[in-house]
Amino acid sequence: ACDRAAAVPGFNFKEIARGVDERHHVAEGYDADILIRWGDPVLADAPAFDPQHQTADAQRKQFGYNNDYVGFVPLPYGSGASDRGLLCVNHEYTNALLMFPGLADVKAASAEQVDIAIAAHGCSIVEIARGTDGKWAPVAAGVYNRRITPLDTEIRISGPAAGHARLKTSADPEGIRVLGTLNNCAGGITPWGSYLTSEENVNLYFAGKLEGHPEAGNYKRMGIPGDKMGWARFHKRFDINEEPNEANRFGWVVEIDPLDPAAAPRKRSALGRFKHEGCENATTKDGRLAIYMGDDQRFEYLYKFVTSAKVDPQNRAANRDLLDEGTLYVARFEEDGSGTWRPLVYGANGLNAGNGFSSQADVLIEARRAADILGATPLDRPEDVQPNPRTGKVYVSLTNNSKRTADEIDTVNPRADNLWGQIVEITPKGGDHGAESFSWTLLVTCGDPAKPEEKAKWNAATSTDGWFACPDNLAVDGKGRLWVATDQGVEWSQTSGAADGIFALETDGAGRGTSRRFFRVPVGAEMCGPCFTPDSKTLFVAVQHPGADGTKDFQGFNRASTFDDPATRWPDFTPGMPPRPSVVAIREKNGGPIGG
Ligand code: FEO
Ligand code: CA
Ligand code: CA
Ligand code: CA
Repeated sequence: ACDRAAAVPGFNFKEIARGVDERHHVAEGYDADILIRWGDPVLADAPAFDPQHQTADAQRKQFGYNNDYVGFVPLPYGSGASDRGLLCVNHEYTNALLMFPGLADVKAASAEQVDIAIAAHGCSIVEIARGTDGKWAPVAAGVYNRRITPLDTEIRISGPAAGHARLKTSADPEGIRVLGTLNNCAGGITPWGSYLTSEENVNLYFAGKLEGHPEAGNYKRMGIPGDKMGWARFHKRFDINEEPNEANRFGWVVEIDPLDPAAAPRKRSALGRFKHEGCENATTKDGRLAIYMGDDQRFEYLYKFVTSAKVDPQNRAANRDLLDEGTLYVARFEEDGSGTWRPLVYGANGLNAGNGFSSQADVLIEARRAADILGATPLDRPEDVQPNPRTGKVYVSLTNNSKRTADEIDTVNPRADNLWGQIVEITPKGGDHGAESFSWTLLVTCGDPAKPEEKAKWNAATSTDGWFACPDNLAVDGKGRLWVATDQGVEWSQTSGAADGIFALETDGAGRGTSRRFFRVPVGAEMCGPCFTPDSKTLFVAVQHPGADGTKDFQGFNRASTFDDPATRWPDFTPGMPPRPSVVAIREKNGGPIGG
C-alpha cells in the first residue's frame, strides 16, 4: 500500500562539479560561511588563537581540533527555534604535524604539545545565533558554553558496568569516574535535548604490551594498544601495563546535558563498548527510545539499543537516566532481505560463564565478542546510522572494506576489495523501531558508474559529478530527504579522485538512487557534521582535517602536509596560519530551504 504522507520529495538545486582544490565549494545560490574554527574562543576567558604560542590552558578554553559530529539544540529549550541554539560539536582527534610548527614526528611532541593535543580533544558546546545581517555567529561568552576534554573533565560511568572490577584504576578505585572522552566521532541529540557523543578509535591512545595482560583478548579485539598518539610518554594512564583497566573506560557512548553546564557527563555503559561511530535515535511505537549505532571497523557489526522505560516528553528531568536501562541488540542480515536484532543479554544464547561472561557488565565491556556468539553479520565498516522520521526507514553507511575477499561476499556486502562502500536501507517490522525483525535492501552501491569493474549501482539520472565513494555521516532534512557526507581517507585519489563533500541522495519514487553533489571540502579534508536547523534553512557542516590527506599538487602522491608547508591554508589563507578544521554554516541566498 502506498502511504502518501510518507512520500519524500526530490531536490532542486544545480549540482557542483567534482574536483579538488584548496577551497570549499557550494552549489550556486548558496552561501557557505565559516562559523567557528579550531582555536576560536569558547569560554569567556579564552585568549585569541596564536598558533606560534599555543598552550594547553588556552586550548582547553578554545574550540578543539577535528570537528566531526555537529548537533543543534534550539534555544530557548523546546522552542524549536532556528535562529538561536547550542551547537554541540565532537573533536575527534588531532593531527599534530598540522598543529605545531616544526614538528616532524607525532611521537616527538613535547609534554606541553601533548597536553595541547589532549585539550583539543573532546567536545565543545557553543551558543550561536543569527545576527541582523542574517549570518550565524558564536554568541560571545554564551552562558552554556563549555569545553569537555580528556585533560580535566570528570565523566561519570553509569549503567550495568559502573563500578565493575574491570573498570577500576588507581585514580578511580570505585570504577565510576573517568577523565574525559576520546575519539568522539558521530553522535545524536535525544528528544529531551541531551547530546550523545560516541567514542570510536580509542585504541590509538594506548601504548604498552599485551603479553600476559589480564585483558589481552579483549584489548586485541579492539586493536589496543594502537599506540599512534604518543601520550603514554607523559600520562601513565595511557600505558596498559601501568594502568591495566584504563582502556576499558573508553569505547562508550557519552551523554551530555548541554543545558546544564555544571552536570557531569555520563558514559552510558548499557549501550555497550566498541568503536562507536554514531548514536542517532527514533521513538518506538510504544514511546521508548531506540538508538542505532555502527561499530566502525572492517567486519564489525550494527547495533541498536532500546530503553526499558518510555520517554517522558513533558518532563526532561524524568529522562535523565533513561539510557541506563534497556536492551542492546546486534543485527543479523539474511540473504533473502530479512533480518533480526539479537539481544546481548547475560545468561541467554550462550552469553554465560561457559563463554567467559560472568555478568551483564562483562557482556557490555566485550560487546563485540558477545555479538560473535549471537551470529551477527560482519559488515563493511558501519558508520553513521540515520532513522528517517518521515518514513520510519533507517539508513546505514557501510563506508568501505578493502579487506573483504571474494569468498566473503554476501548480499549486504556484495563486493570484494570494496573501496567505495554502500548504503543499506532498513525497514523495521511494522514500522516499529522497537521490533526485533526488519527487512532491508541496498539503496546505492557506491563507486564510479562509468567503470563496470566497480559494480556501482546508481539511478541512471546520477551525473558524472553526482556519484560518490565512502559514505559516512548522514542527515535527514525537514522534508525527509537524505544527505550524505563522505570520507575517503588517504585513498581519495584512488576511490573517486575528487574531494569529499555533501551529496543529496533521493530515496523515493522514480528518482530513488539519484545523487547530486552539493558541497565540496578543500584538499585533504573529510566531510563531517551535516546538521539542519529545525526549519531546514541552515545546514551546518564540519570540515575535518583540511590538508591532512592532501598533496600540494593534488596528484595523489599523499606527500605529507605540515604546519609549515600545508596543502591548503583553508579557511584563513593567511601566511603562517595553518589549516584549521572549522564548522561552516550554509544558507540559501534568499533564505529558502536547503536543497530546494
Ligand atoms: Fe570517525 Fe568511522 O569515522
Ligand atoms: Ca565518521
Ligand atoms: Ca547523522
Ligand atoms: Ca570514516
